[in-house]
Amino acid sequence: MFITFEGIDYSGKTTQAKMLIRRLRQMEMPVVYVREPGGTKISEAIRDILLDHRNREMHAHTELLLYMAARSQIVQEIIKPAIQAGKVVVCDRYIDSSVAYQGYGRGIDLEWVHRLNDFATEHLKPDITFLLDLSPERAAERRQRKARRQDRMESEALEFYSNIRKGYRKLAEDEPRRVMILDAELPRDQIHQQIWEMIKPGLSQR
Ligand code: TYD
Repeated sequence: MFITFEGIDYSGKTTQAKMLIRRLRQMEMPVVYVREPGGTKISEAIRDILLDHRNREMHAHTELLLYMAARSQIVQEIIKPAIQAGKVVVCDRYIDSSVAYQGYGRGIDLEWVHRLNDFATEHLKPDITFLLDLSPERAAERRQRKARRQDRMESEALEFYSNIRKGYRKLAEDEPRRVMILDAELPRDQIHQQIWEMIKPGLSQR
């Protein structure tokens, strides 16, 4: 089973991914947890380039190709072998991040983003994707509370995030069987329970 988490920065997707992992491990399920961009030596090096503030001059196409390069490596090195070994793979961000951020956020032709996603992943799609939906305004409030240093992507304006959110919601509309939209403002235990109810049937079939 291949599960992914998506959402704008500060939507709480990483918290949810980790809560799910803990629960699966308690059940002694073989699980692999990875994040994108990153997860392998090469992909983490690409991540550093992508998030570095000094790389202000990065062109949107370069950015897209770097996310795809990081993705290709993690798919080949980690995700595919783990799925083949019968493990549950939980990935924090995947193909939909590129559609939302580079497609809807940066305005790159969606056709290209989809084609490159297919190329980078050799058409490997998640079985289920949890989209933590949050308004950019609420995300900005959360960010201020945490007062963490922002990376290159997080320094973008509210409008960028509002386009990304639109993109994510469109994805959920287009692929309702795969992309499950969740209200990121609910208490985290409640969100976790909703996620658990949705994946439980899939797990018991294994
Ligand atoms: P993430 O690891 O979620 O950030 P953090 O650990 O700081 O919460 O993702 C890093 C950034 O990369 C995030 O702003 C989203 C962006 N991103 C894209 O723009 N396109 C992509 O394809 C992916 C995977 C991430």
